[in-house]
Amino acid sequence: MASSGSNELTGTNTLQSIRYNRGSLQLLDQRKLPLETIYLEIRDSTDGWNAIRDMVVRGAPAIAIAAALALAVEVSNLGDFSGSPSDAASFLQNKLEYLVSSRPTAVNLSDAATKLKEVISGAAATASEAKSVFQDYIEAAEIMLVDDVASNRAIGSYGATFIQHQVEKPKLSVLTHCNTGSLATAGYGTALGVIRALHSGGALERAYCTETRPFNQGSRLTAFELVHDKIPAALIADSAAAALMKSGRVDAVVVGADRVASNGDTANKIGTYSVALCAKFHNVPFYVAAPLTSIDLSLSSGEEIVIEERSPKELLNSRGGLGEQVAASGISVWNPAFDVTPANIISGIITEKGVITKSSAADAFDIKAFIQKTL
Ligand code: MRU
Repeated sequence: MASSGSNELTGTNTLQSIRYNRGSLQLLDQRKLPLETIYLEIRDSTDGWNAIRDMVVRGAPAIAIAAALALAVEVSNLGDFSGSPSDAASFLQNKLEYLVSSRPTAVNLSDAATKLKEVISGAAATASEAKSVFQDYIEAAEIMLVDDVASNRAIGSYGATFIQHQVEKPKLSVLTHCNTGSLATAGYGTALGVIRALHSGGALERAYCTETRPFNQGSRLTAFELVHDKIPAALIADSAAAALMKSGRVDAVVVGADRVASNGDTANKIGTYSVALCAKFHNVPFYVAAPLTSIDLSLSSGEEIVIEERSPKELLNSRGGLGEQVAASGISVWNPAFDVTPANIISGIITEKGVITKSSAADAFDIKAFIQKTL
């Protein structure tokens, strides 16, 4: 089993994808789960970039935090840096730019980089030596780790209360797609956090998780977390979602997000859109659970979201490309890692500040107004 343990900064004791103490970062190699538990040492931003690109760590919030901490570890162990505060700022900003290039779709990574750059510029403007710019950077990166767990717990609590109110059943069954749990975040999870909160409140009949082809984040990671936490659950093939909903066994769907445009269109793991269409057809409410850092107000709609395309090997070979060949040699492949679910089939967006719903008059989300109100 993967180790659960207490993270010094977050105090969580669920499964940990990120193990961090100042000057040291280890990432659980999620490619090896559920059969092996191996943590890889991340010494610098190059190790961090490779770990993100190669899916050692994945999930929008976890990617952002792993990147921020990889650079924190690099500067913690830098030794002598002879430059000025503004040289230190340029050093950090260039490394952040590089880290952002590792995966394009999840906005949390670029959002974290933007916020960290603001901290760096502020520090460089007042610091008398480079060391204090690095110190401020490290502290800001560490705060991101702590804040993520707190925001996930709030998402879980708001989501569980809201869904129970909407569905009006003492116990509900919830379907989720991909992995949005402790392994995809700093701890607890977003959509899986809502499922955890329903379970701990005695309101969960059963969680259903899809396999999530081709990388199998559902069967390898979500199933693993559900078993680990003793949450009643069943695994289904992605293609079984429609039949399951038709059978009446799903009361709500909750998924995570990699990027939410300002109109509510949501990019998430490939297959999310099919699940949402099935939910719409069967009158099952479909919710997105995501921190505000997953919202990209600079995009007016999902049309503008850049969708990462990954290696054909993920489809041609078993185990998301890591195992033996399973597809016919010579076949060409289209392998988008994400798809966009249009806002008009999303029932609500669960955030750490509450649930964003549509105004009945416009049948549309007003995410900007919601965020304004939370400031
Ligand atoms: O390719 P992945 O595994 O990084 O994709 C992950 C997802 O799509 C998750 O649903 C999303 O990042 C939300 S994680 C809280």
